[in-house]
Amino acid sequence: MQDTASCVDAVLRSRRTTRAFRPDPLSADTVREILEVASTAPSNSNTQPWRVYVLTGAPMKALGEALVEAFREDTLPPSEHFPDPLPPSFATRQGDFGARYYDCLGIERSDVQGRARQTQRNFAFFGAPVGLIFGIDGRLRPHSWLDLGLFVQSVMIAAQARGIATCPQVSFARFHALIAQHLDMPEHEVTACGMSMGYGDAAAAVNQLQMPRERVNDFARFVGFA
Ligand SMILES: Cc1cc2nc3c(=O)[nH]c(=O)nc-3n(C[C@H](O)[C@H](O)[C@H](O)COP(=O)(O)O)c2cc1C
Repeated sequence: MQDTASCVDAVLRSRRTTRAFRPDPLSADTVREILEVASTAPSNSNTQPWRVYVLTGAPMKALGEALVEAFREDTLPPSEHFPDPLPPSFATRQGDFGARYYDCLGIERSDVQGRARQTQRNFAFFGAPVGLIFGIDGRLRPHSWLDLGLFVQSVMIAAQARGIATCPQVSFARFHALIAQHLDMPEHEVTACGMSMGYGDAAAAVNQLQMPRERVNDFARFVGFA
């Protein structure tokens, strides 16, 4: 059991958001195997609310180009995935993330265009050979989004265990209408997030970013222990 713990811990600890990929392809069978393992994720009453679109090649390029165009035109309302204002403790961590992220890329905080160019890389799936779009039925409640989150993490861990890197991306959610049209999503489905998947470019500066975590005693309260 100790071996299993070390193995699982090592996979969890080694996963990092990857934002530069080598062009090496991934086969449909490899991605299918990852999704099959990830589908063991638990869900409320086994409702399994996840839907996944796995893209590569020309359709992925076409969606990416349409998203880049929409991003450049930027006629949509601002992203709603965080409340405005973001409560202070979260805003501090968000600011810390931004500082570290742009610093490792050599982009000045004042360089609005440079930052926008990097954000735009999201829609080219950071050069990954495979892009995934995760959908969920929009009639479901936040608890079902929790199920989806467990599934998404399982996808990343199953990929990592096979030496395959990922980047989870909420950036896609804002462009749901365009994505739904491209992928012919059923009524009620919404885009929860996307993901870039492939072999990470170990030499890329952006992939050296290692985000810190709060200590357990700062986010957990133990009650009733000796
Ligand atoms: C739901 C979710 C959405 C995210 N969206 C994006 C995104 O759109 N673009 C991006 O570059 N990173 C995105 N990230 C990656 C986070 O920035 C990253 O997980 C965080 O900074 C911690 O770094 P780590 O994953 O390397 O430990 C997202 C992560 C999650 C879990």
